[in-house]
Amino acid sequence: MSLNKKPHQSVMLNEFLSFFEGKKISVFFEGTLGAGGHAKALLEAHPEIEVYIGCDKDPESLEIAKVNLAPWKDKVELVQGDFSDLDVYLKKKKIKTVDGFFFDVGVSSMQLDKGHKGFSFSKEGPLDMRMDPYGDVTAEYIVNTFSEKELGNLFREYGEERQWKMAAKAVVDARKKERIKTTTELANIIVEAFQNKRGKLHPATLIFQALRICVNKELDALNMALTKSIQFLSKGGRVGVISFHSLEDRIVKNVFKDASLVTKDEKKKGKAALLHILTKKPLQATLNEIKFNPRSRSAKMRFAEKM
Ligand SMILES: C[S@@+](CC[C@H](N)C(=O)[O-])C[C@H]1O[C@@H](n2cnc3c(N)ncnc32)[C@H](O)[C@@H]1O
Repeated sequence: MSLNKKPHQSVMLNEFLSFFEGKKISVFFEGTLGAGGHAKALLEAHPEIEVYIGCDKDPESLEIAKVNLAPWKDKVELVQGDFSDLDVYLKKKKIKTVDGFFFDVGVSSMQLDKGHKGFSFSKEGPLDMRMDPYGDVTAEYIVNTFSEKELGNLFREYGEERQWKMAAKAVVDARKKERIKTTTELANIIVEAFQNKRGKLHPATLIFQALRICVNKELDALNMALTKSIQFLSKGGRVGVISFHSLEDRIVKNVFKDASLVTKDEKKKGKAALLHILTKKPLQATLNEIKFNPRSRSAKMRFAEKM
């Protein structure tokens, strides 16, 4: 397996660490280990950590994290799989409570840079887009089998693409001639259909985003994982998310809000709020970080604490 040498710049590292300052962490669960950048920083700052579970769908990322986290190899447990199954992994390890959860969702720059994953419209590669190579659905399957209506809905809902109808029609027309197999074939179909670029955004950006979200079931996984994580959090334990687009941020905001509210009736029945929200508004990267790492410009961080 070839390990890509280009490092992934971890986003909002200082802000991440600040939410655990002064906290005693025994068990930590990170759903998105990637290259292990956030993990390394937390393990350095919290030598008291006994177990750091690092989960990622992508086995190539886990290989890189394994090397980067070698000094903590006795504490770090790598899990290949979807973070929405966190309850299964924790039960298997007989862990009942966790002091911190973290999800830095989406893809890493290492994954974007690898043409063979098919995540990027600017890198020639197969239309795959699976973070988990054992996943059952590829972008190629979706693009070549979904009906025009299904594609339109997908581009509208997951891409928030205003020209969803035009994009769906262009894909269906193109595949009548020949099966669409590669990233550049799809990107060219969209560029041709949209004719002009809209500002700085490449015309295929939102179409690729929509396909990636669908292939990896990203929104369902985030919703499920956050809901499950609240059940496992210890009192005073914290859960945090960095998201990169409004669809994800809305999920985080709503799950946190639901867990922090109780109606008068529920209160009377003895039900208490589960979470205290620590970020009324999401935090964003500083201008300095954005200058150094442009990918951080769309990052939104939210944290909450178990009551
Ligand atoms: C932005 S990167 C994380 C970078 C990491 N925090 C670091 O500092 O190196 C996101 C990672 O999460 C993984 N990922 C995304 N969704 C996932 C899911 N539902 N389950 C498990 N891993 C997921 C991706 O494969 C990717 O490696």
